[in-house]
Amino acid sequence: MHVLGIVGSPRVNGNTDVLVDEILSGVRSSGGTIDKIYISDFDIKPCDSCMNCMSEKKCGIEDQWQAVADKLRAAEGLVIGSPVYWNCVSAQTKIFMDRCFMFLDENYDSGLSGKKGAFAVACGAPNEEMTALTRIVIEDFLKFNKIEIIGGIAASNMQERGSALKDENILARAFQIGRKFM
Ligand SMILES: Cc1cc2nc3c(=O)[nH]c(=O)nc-3n(C[C@H](O)[C@H](O)[C@H](O)COP(=O)(O)O)c2cc1C
Repeated sequence: MHVLGIVGSPRVNGNTDVLVDEILSGVRSSGGTIDKIYISDFDIKPCDSCMNCMSEKKCGIEDQWQAVADKLRAAEGLVIGSPVYWNCVSAQTKIFMDRCFMFLDENYDSGLSGKKGAFAVACGAPNEEMTALTRIVIEDFLKFNKIEIIGGIAASNMQERGSALKDENILARAFQIGRKFM
């Protein structure tokens, strides 16, 4: 099982990054292979709804998206990680999801279907309810693409860059999610 972690936070070693890493550690401990990208490392523009993907089977925007798409095709499992920004996914995560529209065919069947998926969400507020909308957005993305959701982690009280590293319970839960990919 080859699993790709997709970090939708621009903060390297931030909470989303740590949670995605921990899930990937679980994958590796079970014998899987891993890869990880930060969406913000790529020059990826927002979807412009040109619908070239529907007519030509190819995204019409010329940027670095193809490199990301190739990694998605190569993965059997995906971990989508996003911080909560204003109650929802980060802009980076939203652009990533919108650009995945190119995987849909004319019947809205997805080229990502059949993969396994997990999510990791981090918010600063002390109550986990603050992650609710972000989780729904990511879970709906996974469901629409017929990616089997094997688990997810929603971490609250993650105000500082290193908050997740101090929360052993959250780290242990994330690791166990990674093991479920296998
Ligand atoms: C632009 C922005 C908007 C945010 N909005 C929220 C919010 O609506 N609710 C919340 O609980 N935390 C919010 N936060 C805090 C982050 O969700 C929190 O610090 C999270 O751990 C950041 O993840 P990261 O370390 O992976 O970047 C916001 C942070 C930023 C920078």
